[in-house]
Amino acid sequence: MEHLLKLSDLTKDELLMLLETGHDLKKKLKAGIETPYLKGKTLGMIFQKASTRTRVSFEVGMNQLGGHPLYLSVNDLQMGRGESIEDTARVLSRYLDAIMIRTFDQEDVETLAEFGSIPIINGLTDLYHPCQILADLMTIQEVKGTLEGLKFAFVGDGNNMANSLIVGALLAGASIAVASPRGYQPNEAILDKYIDHSDFLLTEDPYEAVQDADVVFTDVWSSMGDEAEAEIRKKVFQNIYQVNHDLLAVADPEVMVQHCLPAHKDEEISTDVFEQHAKVIFEEAENRLHVQKAVLLHLMGVPAYVS
Ligand code: CP
Ligand code: NVA
Repeated sequence: MEHLLKLSDLTKDELLMLLETGHDLKKKLKAGIETPYLKGKTLGMIFQKASTRTRVSFEVGMNQLGGHPLYLSVNDLQMGRGESIEDTARVLSRYLDAIMIRTFDQEDVETLAEFGSIPIINGLTDLYHPCQILADLMTIQEVKGTLEGLKFAFVGDGNNMANSLIVGALLAGASIAVASPRGYQPNEAILDKYIDHSDFLLTEDPYEAVQDADVVFTDVWSSMGDEAEAEIRKKVFQNIYQVNHDLLAVADPEVMVQHCLPAHKDEEISTDVFEQHAKVIFEEAENRLHVQKAVLLHLMGVPAYVS
């Protein structure tokens, strides 16, 4: 593993290894066992969009690993005044040991990896959110004991979460049904690649997607960058693309609900369903910390964690 740009770069073995390391690091943290494997290493964290979980979990995770996190807002970098990604990559590679970047264009993350000489981690783009799906899969393993053969359903906007979930679910051996309105379906290239997969279903009907589901996912109707369309989107999604009691009634009786957060309650998820599943949703948020530490260790080649 050289970078984490998108989940389709991982093999199934690499995916499972990251999750296993995440579980191990979580156990060690809870037991008070120190893991200072990244002593002397610095992670640059470039943000072009807001963040609560990604920023704090990477920053705290890097500290727990004995390394140093460096927060870099695009507005404070020369990149914000037009310095190219190519040059930024070549400069930052001289100071840092790895970079986590949250930005709009997936292409920028790929360029950073192409021109830099250090590991790059995608901390969310308009197209993908791989770190979040790793945390979700880790949480599902905790609750369900397995990923293989489970039925996942995603209800809502075919956004970065939906795109990464399709890839992650199929890689992990789960099936995935996505219910999105026409015009808001997942990325076309991803659909082209997976539409004929026997474990993938695309529908406009949330009830069809959620039927017998073991895990139901949702996310905001308007992502960061979609603000100007928020009112139009609300009209398209409301009353149909909401995870609520009526919808969950057709799922498996033991269904678990995942939300990457932040949540817009009573839009994509009803308040009562959110609160009923809050324990697992906040475990999901916590697992960002553990699984991202696993990513950092594997990318920075720490011998004990590299198979
Ligand atoms: N889920 C997630 O990535 O949250 P933040 O936007 O707060 O980082
Ligand atoms: N789809 C959301 C996820 C936030 C973590 C967004 O991109 O804003």
